[in-house]
Amino acid sequence: MQSREGLHVAIIMDGNGRWAMRRGLPRIAGHRAGAAAVRRVVERALDLGIARLTLYAFSSDNWSRPPAEVQSIFWLLRAFLRLEAEKLRERGVRLRVIGRRDRLSNPVLKEIDRAESATAAGSNLHLCIAIDYSSRDAIARAAAQVTATLASSKVPSPDEIRPLLAQSLTMEHGEVDLLIRTGGEKRLSDFLLWESAYAELLFTDRMWPEFDETDLTVALEEFRSRERRFGGVPAATLQSVISTA
Ligand code: IPE
Ligand code: IPE
Ligand code: MG
Repeated sequence: MQSREGLHVAIIMDGNGRWAMRRGLPRIAGHRAGAAAVRRVVERALDLGIARLTLYAFSSDNWSRPPAEVQSIFWLLRAFLRLEAEKLRERGVRLRVIGRRDRLSNPVLKEIDRAESATAAGSNLHLCIAIDYSSRDAIARAAAQVTATLASSKVPSPDEIRPLLAQSLTMEHGEVDLLIRTGGEKRLSDFLLWESAYAELLFTDRMWPEFDETDLTVALEEFRSRERRFGGVPAATLQSVISTA
């Protein structure tokens, strides 16, 4: 079972640094190889009919890395947006970037704007890239925005605020159906916390640069084999309850 708007896969692309270090390469070589993995996965996502793909490229906490690494990551992000926008447009991919924009440099912002405008009409796949993204920050911002629009002097009730918050947070990318994390760690690292409330979680030891088309296909097979219950009872149980009632 998937969301009404089509299958939404989100990926925490982790393990670039370790992949490189194990090969005696600098960490940036891992990020470069990671960009190639993004291209592969986007291609396969199109083939598999995935409707939305959200990729965690740079977290708000990643600013704490050495400046040279941060600089190289942003150089690669810019290059990716510049070189891929046209191909994405041709393939009917709509690209959007989520996360804070106020700390990004002008050249990065320009490349994001260009890529988003060039691909705005795409309808085959909604590709969302999270840059300077923190889910807790996104929730706090949505809460501030929602309370401001309520324009009432009384404190809103949770029932009042919840649907508005949900709408604000999922407007851009919707609920997550399948959340994959590569690199062996089993944590969310502040990614899509609200949106993944009922996501199926899949953790793999594969490092992101080695994640390929087959890995995505296998992940989807695993997803389809799971029963999502959303707090209900298993479908088989429900059937037997109905037939014995
Ligand atoms: C993920 O790979 C990419 C970013 C966070 C930008 P890492 O750079 O975190 O790789 P590891 O986890 O150190 O191997
Ligand atoms: C999460 O990976 C962020 C991205 C993949 C962009 P990290 O490597 O930053 O996460 P932690 O530090 O292991 O939790
Ligand atoms: Mg990491």
